[in-house]
Amino acid sequence: MVIGIPKEILSGENRVAITPDTASKLIKLGFEIVVETNAGLNAHFLDENYINAGAKILSNVKEVFEASDVICKVQRPVVDSSINELQLMKKGTLLISFFFPLNYPQLAKESAAAGVNVIAMDFIPRITRAQKMDALSSQSNLAGYKSVLLAANHLGKIFPLLMTAAGTITPAKVVIMGAGVAGLQALGTAKRLGAIVEVSDVRTAVKEEVLSLGGRFIEVEQDVSLQDERGYAKEQSAEFLQKQKEVLFKHITQADIVITTALIPGKKAPVLVTEEMVKNMKHGSVVLDMAAEFGGNCELSEMNKTVVKHGVTIIGETNLPGLIPTQASELYSKNILALLTEIGKGGTVTLDLNNDIVKESLISYQGEVYNQRIKPLV
Ligand code: NAI
Repeated sequence: MVIGIPKEILSGENRVAITPDTASKLIKLGFEIVVETNAGLNAHFLDENYINAGAKILSNVKEVFEASDVICKVQRPVVDSSINELQLMKKGTLLISFFFPLNYPQLAKESAAAGVNVIAMDFIPRITRAQKMDALSSQSNLAGYKSVLLAANHLGKIFPLLMTAAGTITPAKVVIMGAGVAGLQALGTAKRLGAIVEVSDVRTAVKEEVLSLGGRFIEVEQDVSLQDERGYAKEQSAEFLQKQKEVLFKHITQADIVITTALIPGKKAPVLVTEEMVKNMKHGSVVLDMAAEFGGNCELSEMNKTVVKHGVTIIGETNLPGLIPTQASELYSKNILALLTEIGKGGTVTLDLNNDIVKESLISYQGEVYNQRIKPLV
């Protein structure tokens, strides 16, 4: 089978789905690889690197889609007036990419209508056997690291305690909302830079991890467990969010940097940082809203923009992994390699619907929306 790697077309997407190193491994597994010219350029993988790995370079996206049985991408397909990637793919093509079908169910329907079978990398179940394929984690991990550096660059202060002859500099205070993969990496990174870090999460199970990384856990009283059976946060009641805001007010308004990473899959992100809180934050402090793509955790954040409001810099960057494209591509590409090793034998992919990894991550199949979580939404 031929695996095609198009150049990502979404603005700001510098990653590439398959690196030359992974291409050579896939070729050893029996696949042929075709790559759109310059597909890896923004991640610093050159056409010649792919050629040396044994891949073939094609001059445009149409040729790639025509030649391929499997398409590997980072971003969900672009369907707009300038290009319709789904229409360019052959019927029966398997597309492997991030998709976020809970947020974009219409796109799942369009994929089915185009006869494209989709595996969403963000729907790979978080089970032990699939850990190597967990692209959400690999990318969130890097995003958590980058979020701290980006916010730090906008803060006119350094992080650590510094004792000098001219006086003592007190450490910066960082508040992180959400101790998932991104939040825990942000915690570790901010600690390594010398900040005092406080973390809030609705899943009390993460308290131990926060403490073990040197963070302080902000406790909010709650009556019920807010963790679902998949380990994700459940949607919270208005009363809980109100109580949380009251507790967080003091912590947020004393912070130099607030990093928010709270998301409930498929829902609008909960508002955790209100305009009132921003107004009361220190002049010059920074909010980095990682949930900006899905409505934002900060009332004032703007998607893909950095704005200054009430003297506070608010960063709404939605693609932090795209700012570290080389390593982000390397990890993503390894996630895909692990998936293709699972579902491809002798250079041919077979979708075994009894395989729980396939069953949970397959979104559209043979002209229908297949996924049980997405079917009711279309
Ligand atoms: P995750 O699902 O592992 O973690 C999210 C955490 O937020 C969970 O621990 C959850 O319990 C917590 N949470 C939910 N509601 C909360 C509330 N009201 N207060 C405090 N905590 C709450 O997700 P992951 O992988 O760590 O990613 C975090 C977020 O960052 C997601 O929204 C994801 O879409 C986003 N993200 C953004 C990137 C960017 O470039 N901007 C890159 C990677 C992830």
